[in-house]
Order: sequence, then C-alpha cells, then structure tokens
Amino acid sequence: MIKDSLPYLSVLPLEDLSIKRNSFSCTVKELEDYFHKYASQDVKKKLTKCFVLVENKQSKIIGYYTLSALSVPISDIPQEKRNKNIPYPNIPAVLIGRLAVDTNFQHQGYGKFLIADAIHKIKNTAIGAAILVVEAKNDNAVSFYQRLGFVEFKELIGNHRKLFYPLTTFIK
Ligand SMILES: CC(C)(COP(=O)(O)OP(=O)(O)OC[C@H]1O[C@@H](n2cnc3c(N)ncnc32)[C@H](O)[C@@H]1OP(=O)(O)O)[C@@H](O)C(=O)NCCC(=O)NCCS
Repeated sequence: MIKDSLPYLSVLPLEDLSIKRNSFSCTVKELEDYFHKYASQDVKKKLTKCFVLVENKQSKIIGYYTLSALSVPISDIPQEKRNKNIPYPNIPAVLIGRLAVDTNFQHQGYGKFLIADAIHKIKNTAIGAAILVVEAKNDNAVSFYQRLGFVEFKELIGNHRKLFYPLTTFIK
C-alpha cells in the first residue's frame, strides 16, 4: 500500500529517469506503448512534460502523467459551474493527456497521488490555469476522476470523454 512506500517515492521528469522504461506495464496498452515509445519524443519536442512516479527502494516505475497547456472555450463549462462572469471567450487550462499506473500498483492510492502531485505542480508554476482537464480513456477512468471531484464537460470533445477540475474559485 502507498502508506508504507511513501518514504521511498519520488516524482521525476522523464528526462531524469534512470530505470528502463520498458519495465512499466499497464492494462491499457495504448498508455503503455506511449510511455515506452513516444513520451520522450514528445518531451524533446516540448509538446508535453512527462512526470514519472518511482519507488526508489525496489527501483520500480509506478506510474506517469503528462502535462500540456490548453485553452478551453468558457462556453464548455456548464453555466451552473461558473461562480461569476469571466469576461473572456477562453480560459487557460492544463491538460493531463495521459495518466497510468502500472498494473501491479493499481488500486493502492497511486493514481490519486499522481493527480495531487499534478495539481500541486500546476498551482506552483508561474503560469495561470483555471482548470485541470483530463481525457478519460474508458468508463473506469471516468469513475476514478469523478471520485476525485472532476466534473464531466457538457459534450464529448473529440473521441474521448473529458472532465475538468477547478483550480480557481471562479469555477465550482
Ligand atoms: C485509472 C487509474 C489511473 C487509477 O489509479 P489507481 O492507482 O488504480 O487508483 P487509486 O488507488 O489512486 O484510487 C483513487 C480513488 O479512486 C477510486 N477508484 C479507482 N479506480 C476506480 C474505478 N475504476 N472506478 C471507481 N473508482 C475508482 C478508488 O476507490 C479511490 O477512492 P478512495 O480514495 O475514496 O478510496 C489506474 O487504475 C490506471 O492506470 N488504469 C489503467 C489506465 C487508465 O485507465 N488510465 C486512466 C487515464 S485515461
């Protein structure tokens, strides 16, 4: 369980990872393949930042997430979720494009830990962001995010269901 491993956990930028990436395995193959083959290219191209949760005692990769900048039309946020009028057509956001926990470490609190880490990082950067957006690859992921307080966007955007988490008091 995560409680026992807390002293041995660290979150590293992918560039600083020394453990072999192909030791990471995930039930959702698309998320496993992305981490093995494509994440470092996207990081080099500055299309995303990728952060990796590592258990240092056993040198294991537990999970990862990616962060990219995003702009969201304010009209995508349900009216009842807006506390005050925001006088701009779009709001700044951060996208967690991918989030995955290794199959051997799922359902032990690490996914929640990664989301908390992402929110902490975003709140402490020099850039404003009103919401955190996630793309859910399946219904399980939607339930996971909803449990953490994410709200589904009104309509499907692209192929995946998307949800958001408010980072400002202007959005409930
Ligand atoms: C979805 C995923 C990231 C969740 O991470 P995890 O480490 O297994 O989840 P956690 O143990 O941190 O769970 C956190 C909370 O969400 C709940 N939860 C986890 N999976 C859930 C699910 N499928 N449905 C409903 N709730 C779920 C847990 O019960 C827990 O609630 P609690 O804090 O009240 O006890 C992980 O299982 C995973 O990588 N799955 C495969 C890839 C994937 O689907 N990624 C989603 C991004 S598209």
